[in-house]
Amino acid sequence: MKIIIGPASKKLASKTAKIAKCEKIQVINKRFPDGEVYVRIEGNIKNENIAIIQTTSPPQNINLIQLAFIASAAKLAGAKKIVGIIPYLAYSRQDKMFLQGENISIDTIASMLKTAGIDQLITVNIHQEKVLERFSFAAKTLSAIPLLAQYFKQQGHNEAFSLAPDKGAVYITEQAKNVIGGECGYLEKRRDRYTGAISCDSKKSFNVKGKTAIIFDDIISTGGTIVNATKILLELGAARVFAACVHPLLIGDAEKRILNAGVEQIIGTDSVPGRFSKVSLAPLISQEIKALKSG
Ligand code: R5P
Repeated sequence: MKIIIGPASKKLASKTAKIAKCEKIQVINKRFPDGEVYVRIEGNIKNENIAIIQTTSPPQNINLIQLAFIASAAKLAGAKKIVGIIPYLAYSRQDKMFLQGENISIDTIASMLKTAGIDQLITVNIHQEKVLERFSFAAKTLSAIPLLAQYFKQQGHNEAFSLAPDKGAVYITEQAKNVIGGECGYLEKRRDRYTGAISCDSKKSFNVKGKTAIIFDDIISTGGTIVNATKILLELGAARVFAACVHPLLIGDAEKRILNAGVEQIIGTDSVPGRFSKVSLAPLISQEIKALKSG
């Protein structure tokens, strides 16, 4: 299996190729003066199984088009099987019609990827695993939570309290607890579908007095969810609060808002490359690639 280095995940893809002992295939990419995207695969992939590693975090539309063009180019170049490894899968939160007249965005994305030539998809901590059942081709999600929890354990935060900011993240805190130990709990979160404003059930009580608490989530976007959860933890007497997520989007002034709320540190993975990518997904993805190679 050869690995195509997606322009949006250069470092992660190279690291993964090294660990999985796969040949790297580079992509030339540029934008035309009018903004259109151009890609060209360098290297021979005829009759090869290939994996394209390309995240689709912002600028998500560009990254998605790049991915589709690379897959399409790989097909034209004679690739046998194309696995799309998309650590952050954009549009996966719009997985149903929340309001009349909306689109189910993830369905459109899945069709586009299939049409482009992707035969199988692997992503990481997709917002709802169930959404993958809607795909007309093989699709699975991996979990980076044990890696994130390991990071905190190595920093000496054994037995910290793991908090899920909503019910959807409960499985996440259970996975974290398996590594860190300690207790875990979850909040009931509501989001206004028109304004996006978040409110939480602040009547819940957790045993966090004088303890370190880590809020684990799949995504941090505007930071509203973490800010709310932090307020509750501090009101309950938590001594230290950390925020961990798989996909650190941190849009606009999210970091400032989160730190102002009292979070000590924000830890994410290289699913969204940047300052918060303290934990690499390379060991997790390379394991999966090794399994694909031997399967
Ligand atoms: C939604 O339920 C997700 O799990 C995250 O909690 C959410 O996407 C975070 O968004 P924000 O940072 O904008 O509150």
